Amino acid sequence: MDTGSPQLTRPPEAAEDWTVPQDWDHFSREEHAVWDLLFERQSKQLPGRAADEFVEGLNVLHLSQPGIPNFEELSEKLTKATGWSVVAVPGLVPDDVFFDHLANRRFPAGNFIRRRDQLDYLQEPDVFHDVFGHVPLLANPVFADYMEAYGKGGLRSLEFGSIKKLARLYWYTVEFGLIRQAGNDLRIYGAGIVSSHGESVFSLDSPSPNRLGFDLERVMRTEYRIDDYQQTYFVIDSFEKLLQETQEADFAPLYERLQAQSDLPITTVLESDEVITRGTQDYVRAA
Ligand SMILES: [Fe+2]
Repeated sequence: MDTGSPQLTRPPEAAEDWTVPQDWDHFSREEHAVWDLLFERQSKQLPGRAADEFVEGLNVLHLSQPGIPNFEELSEKLTKATGWSVVAVPGLVPDDVFFDHLANRRFPAGNFIRRRDQLDYLQEPDVFHDVFGHVPLLANPVFADYMEAYGKGGLRSLEFGSIKKLARLYWYTVEFGLIRQAGNDLRIYGAGIVSSHGESVFSLDSPSPNRLGFDLERVMRTEYRIDDYQQTYFVIDSFEKLLQETQEADFAPLYERLQAQSDLPITTVLESDEVITRGTQDYVRAA
């Protein structure tokens, strides 16, 4: 999603909902090879690091041919699992368009892939981030419901002018969330982490970032950075609990409360926080 970006203009080739034909044949052999390289590298790295639900969901990406997934075939598999599909978009789309897709169980994915010299970092989400990062959990029924609920909540937040606060929930869960699994074992599930070779290690192993227990209102007050590894991660206990908490929250009074409270800088640790790791923030200082 694009919160904070300048006004986007719909390219002439895109439909009103900003979708474009994926035109799978337009990808070059080199582009498919970049996908395969990234896919292999991350699939090897993630067992034991990513949430079990994510690793199981990777099955949905095993299609009849290697390379960038053909969205038609992918959507067929995904629809069977949870009713979701994947649609191609040229790049970032406006918030209202994004929310509407999610509310209707369509995940918009960028129709381009990074170059071989950009394997480790790309600011704009490409098909590897969007599909490898997001789609496996969309095959999980609970997470699939959470994403639809988020889309619906997003459409409502537009009426309250509170999109910036809600975007933080997306950021700290869907993009950069950690989860506690059996035996207090921390795992990653956020798409921004699982699709990043470096951050899938940093987020779990580095002493630098804070790792704090998830708290809906607290998260919605917390600023974030888009240009480097996160300085604070929030840890959920389960997808069920995350879904339940966001479904049961009464967002109108919540937004009202948030309006009256100050935003929290990225590295703030509150007395009321459940601190799993208090980060040294050494990484940021060195950078
Ligand atoms: Fe993403």
